Amino acid sequence: MEAKSKNRTLNRIYNLTGNPDECVEAYKEWADHYEEDTVDGMGYVAPTVVAEKLASLAKLDGKSVLDAGCGTGLAGVELAERASALIDGMDISPDMLDLARKKGAYEDLRTADMTGPLDYKTNQYDAVMCVGTFTHAHVGPKGFDELVRITRPGGLIVATVHEDVWDADDYLAHLKSLDASGAARLKEYDVAPYHLHKCRLVVLEAV
Ligand SMILES: C[S@@+](CC[C@H](N)C(=O)[O-])C[C@H]1O[C@@H](n2cnc3c(N)ncnc32)[C@H](O)[C@@H]1O
Repeated sequence: MEAKSKNRTLNRIYNLTGNPDECVEAYKEWADHYEEDTVDGMGYVAPTVVAEKLASLAKLDGKSVLDAGCGTGLAGVELAERASALIDGMDISPDMLDLARKKGAYEDLRTADMTGPLDYKTNQYDAVMCVGTFTHAHVGPKGFDELVRITRPGGLIVATVHEDVWDADDYLAHLKSLDASGAARLKEYDVAPYHLHKCRLVVLEAV
């Protein structure tokens, strides 16, 4: 993709207004070039960082893991290289999910909107990962609440939060309120590699 049109796509992604239909349209346009633009073009390492972190903290063989906002499935592939977990994925974009399906790393793949209630059972998953989705006008801090609900007590949620929105959207206050409510323990929120920017690598343990 030419640099100019790549920037246009990124500008569109970073300037979404929070309208789900607009997000779906933007990723429909980006899906076929997404991995080339992010992994090759921007040095996007977040899927590896999250998969490594989750696999290092939890024994996942035979366990169920949800990749929330899985996109084209980069994180599922990374996790499958590190553990023989049963990995499900969901995303708001059918076009991104079509590409994830081709990876062969996932069991169930479905469309879902993380800004609302999720159609998964309470305590359904042994672990949840979420990479690149807590970012500009995608999913805000409240999206963590449902990830906590669907993770069994003692299970981990490992997620990136783009550095631009960490302070702007007051993620730390929301994560601390989840901790204070007794729903989850906030274990880590260190600065970590992402792509051209850094992220916070959040580790929560569901209670
Ligand atoms: C930057 S991509 C990251 C995709 C993948 N996790 C990765 O690391 O390559 C952000 C993803 O979030 C998805 N997304 C945006 N808003 C969402 C929402 N409200 N619910 C679920 N997924 C959403 C997009 O469709 C896109 O696939």
